[in-house]
Amino acid sequence: MLQSLKFRNQINQEELEQKVKKMYKAVALHPEVTYHFEMGRALAERLGYPSEILDQIPEEAIASFAGVGYYFNLAQLKEGESVVDLGSGSGMDVFYAAKHVGNRGEVIGLDMTREQLEKSNILKEKYGFWNTFFLESYIEKPRIVASSVDIVISNGVINLSSQKENVFKEVARILKPGGRLAISDIVTTLKLPKSITCNVSLWASCIGGAIPEQDYLSLIESAGLKVEAVTPNPYEFLSRGAKGATEKYGIKSISILARKPEFNSFS
Ligand SMILES: C[S@@+](CC[C@H](N)C(=O)[O-])C[C@H]1O[C@@H](n2cnc3c(N)ncnc32)[C@H](O)[C@@H]1O
Repeated sequence: MLQSLKFRNQINQEELEQKVKKMYKAVALHPEVTYHFEMGRALAERLGYPSEILDQIPEEAIASFAGVGYYFNLAQLKEGESVVDLGSGSGMDVFYAAKHVGNRGEVIGLDMTREQLEKSNILKEKYGFWNTFFLESYIEKPRIVASSVDIVISNGVINLSSQKENVFKEVARILKPGGRLAISDIVTTLKLPKSITCNVSLWASCIGGAIPEQDYLSLIESAGLKVEAVTPNPYEFLSRGAKGATEKYGIKSISILARKPEFNSFS
């Protein structure tokens, strides 16, 4: 087992899940409140989302956007593709992807927080995004058929999982041969100390669960995917405490493109 994953086994799973759900319920219902992390349209534009495409997406979804990077330049979505978003939140990236894959394609958002799912489903109906679907599901056990997906996307979510190996194994299972993984997430330069990794509140804030970049990339490769590109994102935490940890341990946001080999043993 990677050294950086050892402390994760000591975290109280039940408490972590409840904290994460509480935080992202608030993000869905009250995007106007100031959190320790940036949210909304200004963040999306700074990360690189083109404003002309954001203009075509429900503004309520953009208001609750809590991602950490822009990976669609790596994803290169094509018309007709099938996409799964791990931790779809209020749906901004699902709607964004839906605009690219068109009516011949489909985008499925998975999330465990009921209020996020309810919000994204309401927006789907209100704005007629008929090529999108939102399912209640853990990202460690996605309710998706094996070898059925062209591309898995995710934004600021996998760091929250204490079972990151399972997440990437499941990504490899559900991707078609040759399928891509395109994500943005929080990683570190240095291994975080136990005082941070055993603190569920810091986990729920996208800090405590972050692991060293090299370990993160190793987990992707161990699952059988080939990492093709890694790029930095101009993402910053807002609170003083978070900024301090960011500087001390090199906490940062990166985007990653990885691919499942054409011939493999998963399907
Ligand atoms: C930081 S937010 C990001 C949401 C969205 N990707 C965005 O960019 O706005 C994290 C989301 O992941 C969901 N989440 C966290 N851990 C999860 C898990 N293990 N299974 C399913 N959803 C999870 C949360 O409910 C929340 O909606």
